[in-house]
Amino acid sequence: MGAYRDTYQLSLDDPEWFWRDAAGGVEWERMPIRVLDRDNPPFYRWFPDAQLNTCHNALDRHVERGRGDDIALVYDSAVTGALKRYTFGELLDEVSIFAGALRALGVQQGDRVVIYMAMVPEAVVAMLACARLGAVHSVVFGGFGPRELAARIDDAKPKVVVATSCGIEAARVVPYKPLLDAAIDEAAHKPSRCVILQRPQAPGELRDGDITWADAVAAAPRTACVPVAATDPLYILYTSGTTGRPKGIVRDNGGHAVALTWSMANIFGCGPGDVFWAASDVGWVVGHSYIVYAPLLAGATTVLYEGKPVGTPDAGAFWRVVAEHGVNVMFTAPTAIRAIRKEDPQGAHIDRERLKSLRTLFLAGERLDPQTYEWAGERLGVPVVDNWWQTETGWPIAASPRGLEELPTKAGSPSVPVPGFDVRVLAGDGRPAAAGTDGAIVIKLPLPPGCLPTLWGDDERFVRSYLSAFPGYYLSGDGGRFDDDGYLYVMGRTDDVINVAGHRLSTGAMEEVLAAHPAVAECAVIGVGDELKGQVPRGFVVLKAGVPTPPATVAAELVQLVRDRIGAVASLRSVQVVAALPKTRSGKILRRTMRGIADGREEPVPSTIEDPAVLDALRPVLRSSGG
Ligand code: COA
Ligand code: AMP
Repeated sequence: MGAYRDTYQLSLDDPEWFWRDAAGGVEWERMPIRVLDRDNPPFYRWFPDAQLNTCHNALDRHVERGRGDDIALVYDSAVTGALKRYTFGELLDEVSIFAGALRALGVQQGDRVVIYMAMVPEAVVAMLACARLGAVHSVVFGGFGPRELAARIDDAKPKVVVATSCGIEAARVVPYKPLLDAAIDEAAHKPSRCVILQRPQAPGELRDGDITWADAVAAAPRTACVPVAATDPLYILYTSGTTGRPKGIVRDNGGHAVALTWSMANIFGCGPGDVFWAASDVGWVVGHSYIVYAPLLAGATTVLYEGKPVGTPDAGAFWRVVAEHGVNVMFTAPTAIRAIRKEDPQGAHIDRERLKSLRTLFLAGERLDPQTYEWAGERLGVPVVDNWWQTETGWPIAASPRGLEELPTKAGSPSVPVPGFDVRVLAGDGRPAAAGTDGAIVIKLPLPPGCLPTLWGDDERFVRSYLSAFPGYYLSGDGGRFDDDGYLYVMGRTDDVINVAGHRLSTGAMEEVLAAHPAVAECAVIGVGDELKGQVPRGFVVLKAGVPTPPATVAAELVQLVRDRIGAVASLRSVQVVAALPKTRSGKILRRTMRGIADGREEPVPSTIEDPAVLDALRPVLRSSGG
């Protein structure tokens, strides 16, 4: 572990030196003199006196260096058949014009813009146009419904919303415009304008204040980059916490550009001229970092794929994209590989001759189970690199950093901490857990550049959620252990966040929706293991006395309610009506015990239980598949 070990040690011994050096990978409007502001712990700020523009670094810089004709973005839509390539010059053109359109609609530096779009190039254009103006984008995943969208609108208070009229799923067209209208009707904050990209599959009906994308750009002038402070926010990305209220993860401009640029070379081993494909969605952090920003910052070509791993049209879809676009480095979630393996267990669609460009497959977003790791490695014949990170950090915390050194990988482990991240495993009393012993995975402060400096508008919640459990450390919310070789094993969340098909969801948010139904007295939602999706939610409700509606009808209504309010992505398909929920004497529902039983473990009866008979009665229900 020579190169890795030395680099890692240096990053912890002298972070200022390390990140000053890495900052050389970015073009600054004003060079950083100070690297890290440590004056106000636990709040740290990277490059506090520097200025830059992220869009300039992603586009203009490459054009200025003569790479205007190189391909920046390949849009491949398996659901519409569209294929479009943009050079850096063309993408810059589109972005500067859309920045002009946003400015004409009143968007200024610091204003927020919510983006609710399918996987179309205009989503990337809208994000980069915000960056160009110094405006703060907040992308909301298209699979979320009105309630989630409204919560984000109310928190971010956008001046403008940019949306596609619809999304296209494997089996159906999903009109987004009615969902957007419902969200705006529900939200207390009203954006002043909405820009709607009309798609022929389902154009949206325009309301007062709406303008089509085509009309917005028709007369818009090209607009130059606005230099911003490195510490100014680039975007807010909402993610699920334990309560129903999403957390607004803030990303700054400077630290983000430096960290992502460093990660492309040193973790992903990818640079100018390479083709990088993250098969994710721009609504998630993987999409922000590794579809949009990192590949473009690094001067690589990024692939934007609209489609699924299976069903669009078959389990060969991913391998077609790799072959047709000469993808060198690929990134996706284990779920996608599990879905492919399920349909094509022998890998009949994998023709290695056609996949010669592929060097590495990176997998993240959920625990990578050893069978999926083995299957992908054997079938593809390339290294499979598990990497562990979160919306909060924006880039990998643990990985095998391929650009630095080709460390051996181990099934079930995302390998070693990435330079910059001082990862520890702590026991409940705050003392270090011995190698081989599970504990809370934490990161010693300061976090490296690129990680969240705070939550949007809520420093207090930032400290309470992440920094107060173990003072001086960031609490990841994941549990796990190190082995004797310093490899990390991430075993799962220690809170009520669940991970469904690589999508991070809050059981608390689902419980809020169930509890709002007039027939429901109390409820619990837990995440249980699922072969394909990793986890799926299951709901349990106790009905109020004297409810005349049959329990099966209420259960069906509840499934539909969660789908309508939170969105189809919640994947809550099973709600069961039960007589009572097991609780502690202080009234807390024993969700962890319920989860363990549902996952087939022999859970001990907690000593704090109020009535063991309730748990006994529930055991067979929990052990059943949930129907
Ligand atoms: N817009 C509208 N609806 C969406 C959506 C979007 N952007 N994304 C998902 N949905 C809908 C789906 O159509 C599905 O609806 P349904 O209940 O009517 O079938 C529902 O939300 C659940 O979606 P999902 O959990 O993705 O299940 P799926 O059965 O459609 O697909 C996989 C399963 C494994 C193929 C799919 O989840 C996948 O490709 N995952 C890759 C993981 C990934 O991209 N993770 C991001 C982080 S790296
Ligand atoms: P998100 O913020 O949506 O990226 O989800 C982050 C969460 O996904 C983490 O806190 C983990 O629980 C889980 N996760 C992501 N990557 C991995 C991985 N490689 N191994 C295990 N869990 C992971």
